[in-house]
Amino acid sequence: MSTGKIESVLSEERSFDPDESFAARAQINGERLAALSRKGESDPEGLWADLAREMLAWHKPFTATLDRSRAPHFAWFPDGELNASEACLGPWIQKAPERPAILYEGENGDSRSLSYRELGEAVERLGAALRAQGVASGDRVVIYMPMCPEAIIAMHACARIGAVHSVVFGGFSARSLYDRVVDASAEVVITADAGRRSGKFVRLKAAVDQALELGEHPVRRVIVFRHSGEEIAWREGRDCWAHELTEAAAPGCPAEQVNAEHPLFLLYTSGSTGKPKGIQHATAGYLLHAKLTCRWVFDLRENDVFWCTADVGWITGHSYVAYGPLASGATVVIYEGAPAWPHGGRFWEICQRYGVTVFYTAPTAIRALMKLGDELPGKYDLSSLRLLGTVGEPINPEAWIWYHRVIGRERCPIVDTWWQTETGGIMISPVPGVTSTKPGSCTRPLPGVQAAIVDENGAEITEPDRGGYLVIRHPWPSMLRDIWGDSQRYRETYFGRFGNDCYITGDSARRDADGYFWIMGRLDDVVNVSGHRLGTMEVESALVAHPSVAEAAVVSRPHEIKGESIFAFVVLKSASAKEAAPSSKTDAMQQALRAWVDQQLGPIARPDDLRIVEALPKTRSGKIMRRLLRSIARGEAINQDISTLENADLVRQLTQPATDPQPP
Ligand code: WT7
Repeated sequence: MSTGKIESVLSEERSFDPDESFAARAQINGERLAALSRKGESDPEGLWADLAREMLAWHKPFTATLDRSRAPHFAWFPDGELNASEACLGPWIQKAPERPAILYEGENGDSRSLSYRELGEAVERLGAALRAQGVASGDRVVIYMPMCPEAIIAMHACARIGAVHSVVFGGFSARSLYDRVVDASAEVVITADAGRRSGKFVRLKAAVDQALELGEHPVRRVIVFRHSGEEIAWREGRDCWAHELTEAAAPGCPAEQVNAEHPLFLLYTSGSTGKPKGIQHATAGYLLHAKLTCRWVFDLRENDVFWCTADVGWITGHSYVAYGPLASGATVVIYEGAPAWPHGGRFWEICQRYGVTVFYTAPTAIRALMKLGDELPGKYDLSSLRLLGTVGEPINPEAWIWYHRVIGRERCPIVDTWWQTETGGIMISPVPGVTSTKPGSCTRPLPGVQAAIVDENGAEITEPDRGGYLVIRHPWPSMLRDIWGDSQRYRETYFGRFGNDCYITGDSARRDADGYFWIMGRLDDVVNVSGHRLGTMEVESALVAHPSVAEAAVVSRPHEIKGESIFAFVVLKSASAKEAAPSSKTDAMQQALRAWVDQQLGPIARPDDLRIVEALPKTRSGKIMRRLLRSIARGEAINQDISTLENADLVRQLTQPATDPQPP
């Protein structure tokens, strides 16, 4: 492990030592990391308190660190006060007002740069406009935007006035938007006329209009940014142009100083039931971790150009686009468009154009770009890159090695970062310059993160390579605080089983003999499509909402690019089943149902496979035998006990759907 080269031909034993020239410049060295980790073990509260004092600009300093009185709802730095947006941008507006904060590239090649000063002014203008519209501290505001500077401006404007933002990914459908608006009881939606993706317009305002037709809702204002110039419908009295509001607002927007525990945002994520969970994050702890991990994991500093390719609709786009890197005074690159549009070199062209130094993306993107070959990235000057990161799912060693060799040109450390919407920031990751990496492992927990693997009784598994539940055994500042409107679900999902201190991640993992963590996958009924969680129940609920569908079961199967893809088994209502029986009609029905899911939930949830079957396999107690369906979807041998199946012929039908033409 001393050469920095591949150590062994066995892929799972390859190990890469930290690059010496990287280590020489890194902000965190081995000694410092060891000291932080020791403190994190013996006195986690003391560690977090020290870091919170060092890293955040407090309006009113805290005197208490952790309040456990409402466990498992924990409160960090509970008597401190600050404003997240001000703490994030303020120091840089003072110190380096003209430094670019955001470099934006549109899919059609437009480019815009916003300095910290300009960003700060835009945030204040929109904050003032929101206040003028009656938005007060604690009110929820839904943001449904393309990946453009205004999305970040909108998030910060909310934070500036103490409003709670809830960003809904612009790829989600009107139905998903409606559900989230209603769940959060948001009175204001911020959107844009349209965004761009793969050469097409994504008509966001039209989707908002459609969403607000779907039923009762509390929305009284839709604030629209002019972005693409697309023509849009207008509802007088409800809709208003962002530029008109900001022009009309009085100058200046004093920052609302809020309690450290004040909710900063909600972000909806999938769970194992049909209803998405509004993950609620608090102000200070979240910001601390976002900023701190930018230093520890990305070694980020003021002159870095950081490109995290995630959309602000996901947690990654919150912590590592909108908050962490801006709190660190770096320049962030954002790109609104598809990765390989209009050509497969687009990502690398952007890296070259803006001189990206730290690049952070998902394994699904790496795999898709890897398929296009080594020649494309070879055409671009990637010498500005010094560090690469991945997030969202386990990275297969082949993709890791490609990333290392072809993108990092064997110079750049790779940080494989494990975390979740609920954890707020990176939890398990190499510290570049210190940690030796192994392709496919997220290595070790960061200081203060007491990650462990336990068995079903909560006892720690110390034996190497034995899988178990991945848990975090001590609260940490950026953990979620609640599920919006459903504290019971919060307690049951995350803390029920192993006590009030022990957060259950929902992932399974193992540790190898060196203590490195290897994530094995989700334990609940969740699919990881392109690095994002989708509840299989959500897709099932969408399918059964179709008038022709009686029942549906959704499972995942491995997918070369997406990581996992969705496989749906659908039972039609008898009238529809008769109608769709001829194979020509079956095909049309399958297409219609896939399009239906797309419309209900968004394209990310569209099943790649959809099989129409006569019945679903169930246990005596009526539970769908998902493991069996998973084996069928994956084309694996069936070794489950199927003796309880009422209809013994069903397995043959499921494998070879009854409505498909039989081979001669
Ligand atoms: C789930 C969280 C965190 C931002 C993106 C997804 C999986 C995440 C890794 C990784 C293996 C990973 C886990 C986790 N995951 N990062 N580096 N290696 N698996 O956020 O939608 O909240 O999903 O993504 O299964 O639980 P999310």
